[in-house]
Amino acid sequence: MPGFPMFMKKHDLVYLTEDASHDAAIEIINEEAFGPGRFARAAARIREQGPHDLSLSFVCADDGETIASVRMTPVMAGSIKGHLLGPLAVRPSHKNRGIGRELVRIAVEAARRKGSECVILVGDPPYYQPLGFEKVAYGALTFPGPVDPNRVLVVPMTEGVHEGLKGDIHWRA
Ligand SMILES: CC(C)(COP(=O)(O)OP(=O)(O)OC[C@H]1O[C@@H](n2cnc3c(N)ncnc32)[C@H](O)[C@@H]1OP(=O)(O)O)[C@@H](O)C(=O)NCCC(=O)NCCS
Repeated sequence: MPGFPMFMKKHDLVYLTEDASHDAAIEIINEEAFGPGRFARAAARIREQGPHDLSLSFVCADDGETIASVRMTPVMAGSIKGHLLGPLAVRPSHKNRGIGRELVRIAVEAARRKGSECVILVGDPPYYQPLGFEKVAYGALTFPGPVDPNRVLVVPMTEGVHEGLKGDIHWRA
């Protein structure tokens, strides 16, 4: 086939459940995406209270290199047993290929299968609303640090979630 290279570089993206071998790469991805201020964010304070759930956390690898990550942490949000999604980060070299959206979709579906009542996050509504996230009632949840109430979003997975999302949000076992 003239003019067609025999060995074109082919991106081979795979989505994997996170394990300890991904830790170092995820740290670099999050440092690159959020910088040193990331530990001061209100959602990060919840994540400091206990471990994330590896079985609901995922990475994307390109030819074996970890290039994106999403983590999920079990939380009690008012009276609702849910999961906090984040951080979500994709390396700049791999942005705008749908990887972030796919990681969110996989994580939300995994949480649903595990019987979670909701997935909550603090993020940009224009990105997350098309993925099924809805605004939580303004100021209804109290985070362990300041958040913009307009950015607190939820995918409800059982009846009565919005009514139950009132009060503190914190890590749960
Ligand atoms: C936000 C982020 C995870 C998106 O990942 P991604 O794989 O590039 O995103 P996708 O390919 O799934 O989606 C790309 C689309 O989302 C849009 N988008 C990206 N960030 C957005 C934002 N903050 N608000 C609204 N839209 C956004 C892009 O413009 C693009 O739109 P298009 O499909 O109309 O062209 C990635 O840019 C990133 O790691 N950013 C730095 C960390 C961060 O902000 N994380 C989210 C915390 S809330």
